[in-house]
Amino acid sequence: MKFFIDTANIDEIKKAMDLGMVDGVTTNPSLVAKEQRPFEEILKDICELVDGPISAEVISLDAEGMVAEARELARLSDNIVIKIPMIEEGLKAVKILSAEDIKTNVTLVFSSSQALLAAKAGATYVSPFVGRLDDISQTGMDLISDILTIFRNYGFTTEIIVASIRSPMHVVESALIGADIATIPYKVIAQLAKHPLTDIGMEKFLADWEKRQK
Ligand code: E4P
Repeated sequence: MKFFIDTANIDEIKKAMDLGMVDGVTTNPSLVAKEQRPFEEILKDICELVDGPISAEVISLDAEGMVAEARELARLSDNIVIKIPMIEEGLKAVKILSAEDIKTNVTLVFSSSQALLAAKAGATYVSPFVGRLDDISQTGMDLISDILTIFRNYGFTTEIIVASIRSPMHVVESALIGADIATIPYKVIAQLAKHPLTDIGMEKFLADWEKRQK
């Protein structure tokens, strides 16, 4: 299972890379806005650091505008993946970009019908948002299982990026289901490493070590 980090923050990317946990990066307009730096500058910095897919989202609402933005962004690096919103105009854009061999990540996916359409349009990745579904009392992880079944039924090569991850259990459940990728905020990557019994065990080992015969 691949781990992408869901951030536009360079320090978080570096910290996760030190742990060996970065196979790729996803950004979105909200994450980019938090950094208060030009979008292109952020993307160039990420591309210099990470040798893997880096998702950059378009903000146009029509296919023509999305494709124009995508072509500009794709020029920055071969690693750039264009994040396209799951709307009809987005599907049109995915079809055009896929014919030009520009990789796409269809984002804001909340149903299996949306994922099926994105795969048929030729998306490289789909991003179902599990946390935001949980927020409205729907089980986000059920959507991941359904999409995986549909993709396997028909041999779609579109990869599933489990997005809007809020807790370590989202990551564990994604792995149990067999999702291709989880895009994870740095905070959750750090939480995944933690266990109170590890801390208690370390404390005891070190205390006993002090009592050894010197
Ligand atoms: C991923 O591609 C999305 O940008 C992200 O996971 C959204 O997460 P949120 O629902 O916590 O904002």
